[in-house]
Amino acid sequence: MSSDQTIKLTVRDYYAGRALQADDLSGNACCDPADRAISGGNYEPEDLRWLPDDAQVFSLGCGNPIAMAELRPGETVLDFGSGAGLDVLLSARRVAPDGTAYGLDMTDEMLEVARANQEKAGVTNAQFLKGEMENVPLPDASVDVIISNCVVNLSPDKDRVLREAFRVLKPGGRIAISDIVVRGEIPDTLRSDLEAWSGCIAGALSDAEYTAKLQGAGFHQIDIETTRRYSLDSLCGAEDNAGYWKSLSHLSRQEQEEIVSRFTSSFVRARKPG
Ligand SMILES: C[S@@+](CC[C@H](N)C(=O)[O-])C[C@H]1O[C@@H](n2cnc3c(N)ncnc32)[C@H](O)[C@@H]1O
Repeated sequence: MSSDQTIKLTVRDYYAGRALQADDLSGNACCDPADRAISGGNYEPEDLRWLPDDAQVFSLGCGNPIAMAELRPGETVLDFGSGAGLDVLLSARRVAPDGTAYGLDMTDEMLEVARANQEKAGVTNAQFLKGEMENVPLPDASVDVIISNCVVNLSPDKDRVLREAFRVLKPGGRIAISDIVVRGEIPDTLRSDLEAWSGCIAGALSDAEYTAKLQGAGFHQIDIETTRRYSLDSLCGAEDNAGYWKSLSHLSRQEQEEIVSRFTSSFVRARKPG
């Protein structure tokens, strides 16, 4: 099996496991959802009030792509790696009544949670599709906006993901992605750690790499904006206990802090030429 396939299967199994933690997908029971360093506090409480339960616990993202996507009624939106479906349900509301929000995910267990959430929310203009963002099951030039929340970093073949994004977007269509972006070097021990891949750490691109890959796929008007920086103290629950940070334990506290601070949540915007 190639190392790319190993990464894919590890990531899929990891998110299948998270999907089965139905009460709180984040596995961060010891922190208040709003306080979580990466997934916490990304949404305005009033934007979530119409959703069933505490929708925040269903977020495994690292930002709020809806906040920058400027969705309009009638548009077609596609979410790469839709997880439990929060961003798809929020998008569906913004593009209603005539627009459609598609969620794409490769993990059956996540799709099941997302479809149950859709039913509870009573959203009719959303559809969850099984598939991979490296091979999108939608026709050319069929989508106005691609959103994604902390998923592109999980792909071992990001060039292919961005080429697929370009293919399915209509001319003039746009990308509005939240992702982990690295500002500086990451130690090889983290880069090669499969658990760190699943945790959205090992596969993260630098802003220069992201820009080059978007350009290579044909995008223009590229902009990458840091929205949150991390510190050791800000990590909590599963984020904090993750085994991969322990690979840094031989370093001083200051050195560890320096490495953690290189990881950012960022907004990635780009457009397909019209
Ligand atoms: C970090 S979670 C983010 C979920 C969601 N976007 C959110 O904000 O809560 C990653 C999700 O992406 C899915 N995923 C990972 N790699 C994928 C791929 N190559 N194609 C499609 N889905 C993928 C996983 O199954 C999981 O549901």
